[in-house]
Amino acid sequence: MGVVQIRHQLNEHLLQVGGHIGYSVASDERRKGYATEILRLSLEYCQRLGMSRVLVTCDKSYAASAKVIQANGGVLEDEVTCDNVTKRRYWIQI
Ligand SMILES: CC(C)(COP(=O)(O)OP(=O)(O)OC[C@H]1O[C@@H](n2cnc3c(N)ncnc32)[C@H](O)[C@@H]1OP(=O)(O)O)[C@@H](O)C(=O)NCCC(=O)NCCS
Repeated sequence: MGVVQIRHQLNEHLLQVGGHIGYSVASDERRKGYATEILRLSLEYCQRLGMSRVLVTCDKSYAASAKVIQANGGVLEDEVTCDNVTKRRYWIQI
């Protein structure tokens, strides 16, 4: 019903726009809390990897993803525009 990608290290592009964690929920499974839970579990996994803070980004225009990040303690760092898409960058302390 969903997929998550966890990047153990960031290159320059991931540091600017991609972040450590990317997730997606199947369209017919959305709004059931799965993304919020996926990110929560992913943060636990990152903690076990020894990470102390995690970068998660989302499109500025996508309110649902921002809610998922904020529900998991995301603090807005800034916004960056890449290829005409503005991304919000959030750090989460774990
Ligand atoms: C963004 C996405 C992951 C959210 O998944 P989800 O499982 O529906 O999210 P949740 O059910 O955990 O909902 C989180 C919050 O967003 C809200 N929300 C979800 N979809 C929404 C929508 N289309 N419009 C408005 N709010 C929405 C929920 O109501 C919930 O808010 P609440 O905490 O106030 O109740 C999903 O829409 C998706 O896969 N989108 C495409 C890929 C993507 O954008 N990934 C994120 C980039 S890393």
